[in-house]
Amino acid sequence: MTSPNDDETPRSFEELIRRLPKVELHLHLEGTLEPEMAFALAERNGVRLRFPTVETLRSAYAFRDLQSFLDLYYESIAVLRTERDFYQLTRAYLERAAGEHIRHAELFFDPQSHTRRGVPFGTVIEGIHQALVEGESDLGITTRLIMCFLRDLSYKEAAAALREALPYREWLIGVGLDSAELGHPPSAFTAVFAAARAQGLRVVAHAGEEGPPEYIWEALDLLGAERIDHGVRCLEDPALVSRLAAEHVPLTVCPLSNLHLRVVASLEDHPLRSLLEAGLCATINSDDPAYFGGYLTDNFLAIARALRLTRAEVVTLVRNSYQAAFIDEPRRRQLEDELITALRSMP
Ligand code: HPA
Ligand code: ZN
Repeated sequence: MTSPNDDETPRSFEELIRRLPKVELHLHLEGTLEPEMAFALAERNGVRLRFPTVETLRSAYAFRDLQSFLDLYYESIAVLRTERDFYQLTRAYLERAAGEHIRHAELFFDPQSHTRRGVPFGTVIEGIHQALVEGESDLGITTRLIMCFLRDLSYKEAAAALREALPYREWLIGVGLDSAELGHPPSAFTAVFAAARAQGLRVVAHAGEEGPPEYIWEALDLLGAERIDHGVRCLEDPALVSRLAAEHVPLTVCPLSNLHLRVVASLEDHPLRSLLEAGLCATINSDDPAYFGGYLTDNFLAIARALRLTRAEVVTLVRNSYQAAFIDEPRRRQLEDELITALRSMP
């Protein structure tokens, strides 16, 4: 029987999780918009929200599925208008991340959700970038920025978004694919991902969250995805699991997101341990933490409790994220050194 209680108290196990130097690889910056900030920005920008108070907005955070979440997510995004707004959103996340011992973060943003409302691409990325530069110098968090294409919009719109991004090519590490998955297979975006790869951009894609294993095959074979975001439905296809294991393709798993979007019925039913036992490089991430009841540490604590993860399994998950990150070997060694120091300091 595997249990953190076998050799240590739950308290010290939780403290270990809090203190481990962590890496976040699946976080949508727009998904960190807390209701309090949404209201403050709405007032500053003269945007009317449908909800009268912070509490009523927060109480709307009860989702049936991915689409019901996305409807509210895109609605709330309307309060983000100026470079300062994007700076503040990003800065608030980084300050929180620093407090959780997150040492490296690879962040998604959805430029089309802003440009289609008339907010220029440059406004969005300039604000985010400024916060990332400052966060690295004063908080010591290294970061990478990944722009996602909205898969429920057309291929042509994705190609236009990539063109708008090219003047800022050096601020981006890669491209991803997100938004409503069912009915929007990766295959529709083959050419735009090829164009992104030709620019030297790395490739990730959401696949196998609500969509079938075929979407994961397409993300790998047609888009050239190096990591799969979510990917939990790979377990329905043994040949796919073998492929992901053989090629060490990481999965960025988001337990509280899976719970809140009803990808799993309960955290006790979450397939994380099956993924690890299948030899997959699974990592823990927070997706849209303002909406799903917790940031990265909360995700680790909740899944560790529900699945009675051992200390060794938690450390494996953290190490997997170091392996999966788009960082160089010296940075990977630094993180590993910090991990060893943290483990030594915890009895
Ligand atoms: N899934 C797909 N698209 C998204 C998500 C998500 O969890 N969050 C923001 N866009
Ligand atoms: Zn996501």
